[in-house]
Amino acid sequence: MIYLDNAATSFPKPEPVYQALDKFARTSLANPGRAGHRMAVAAERTLDDTRHALNQFFRGESPDRWIFTLNCTDGLNLAIKGTVKPGDHVITSDLEHNSISRPLRALEKAGVITLTRLASDDGYLDPEAVRKALTPKTALVALTHASNVLGTVQPIEAIAPIVREAGALFLVDAAQSAGVIAIDLRATPIDFLAFPGHKSLYGPTGTGALYVGPRANPRPWREGGTGGDSSSETQPTLFPYILEGGTPNVLGVAGLAAGIAWVANRGVEEIRRHEVALLQRVVDWAEGTEGWRITGRWNPATHVGALSLVVPEALTPQDLGSILDTSFEIAVRPGLHCAPYIHRALGTFPDGTLRVSPGPFTTDEEITTFLNALTEITAGVL
Ligand SMILES: Cc1ncc(COP(=O)(O)O)c(C=O)c1O
Repeated sequence: MIYLDNAATSFPKPEPVYQALDKFARTSLANPGRAGHRMAVAAERTLDDTRHALNQFFRGESPDRWIFTLNCTDGLNLAIKGTVKPGDHVITSDLEHNSISRPLRALEKAGVITLTRLASDDGYLDPEAVRKALTPKTALVALTHASNVLGTVQPIEAIAPIVREAGALFLVDAAQSAGVIAIDLRATPIDFLAFPGHKSLYGPTGTGALYVGPRANPRPWREGGTGGDSSSETQPTLFPYILEGGTPNVLGVAGLAAGIAWVANRGVEEIRRHEVALLQRVVDWAEGTEGWRITGRWNPATHVGALSLVVPEALTPQDLGSILDTSFEIAVRPGLHCAPYIHRALGTFPDGTLRVSPGPFTTDEEITTFLNALTEITAGVL
């Protein structure tokens, strides 16, 4: 299989990740507990060490501000639902994944918040539009760092100070950027950073993290055992335990730690450049082939490794995805990519586009095979 669906989840994982998962599962897979037996303490240490690694990687305030989550959606929901109060105003955009759009729209429909959804221009948000949308009631600005449909990277370094100045909290969805774009939490005033562990940080599925900056104090939405402070009648107020009820995915976190180390060693920009260079070939092919076009302004300097193609009218993205899978053993992602608002804005709703997302292990030869397959399929219908 030629796997070009890394924007959904990365595959394969780097070899050290498989090794870490195997070793941890065989030797240390106890229930973490600060006051427990040595295996429990060792498991707890894996969580602590990984919080340190995350804090160093993203230059956060301190390791205890990193909350392990089930995925990116889990962290985004925690940040959104733990923060907003009745009467608050929230700003978001048409680039968002449903993991931001749906919780916000549900809160809006329930009459809890008012919502402004900013329109992007050719895949990019304008920081000045954020400034204009802010009101004294704006409690939260929730934006994606990189569009999972278009791969375009948003100017969060310019947006963050505008949000901070207005006294609102800034939530960044780094699902498509964590591990491929450097994020410096000391240089950029971000209050919440949510991302999955299973995409460009190469952990297994079931992993993710939410960074909670010092100005944010979300209400816990999952209360329960925390591996310590058992006598307390309510959730301990200490970070990170206040936001982490129940047995964590410590096996997944062990894999995630190996993934972060691999990325740090390989270099974030090096990985991004490899993926974007492969996409450049797809862009050149689409621009030179009748019936095809790309969506979103193409700029290799502000792009991650995901690109959406508008397919010829005689085909649907679903047809193409299925032919690529069954006849060519190539995995891509057709459809709306859980981001309906941007497809409506682009005029690609409801069929969507064909998204291609190479990873660090994708080769030039695989892209050649993919482009030859597209050429062959389209030759039959045009
Ligand atoms: C931009 C964006 N946000 C959020 C998510 C949700 O991530 P998860 O599936 O880990 O919850 C995704 C997943 O594709 C995404 O691309």
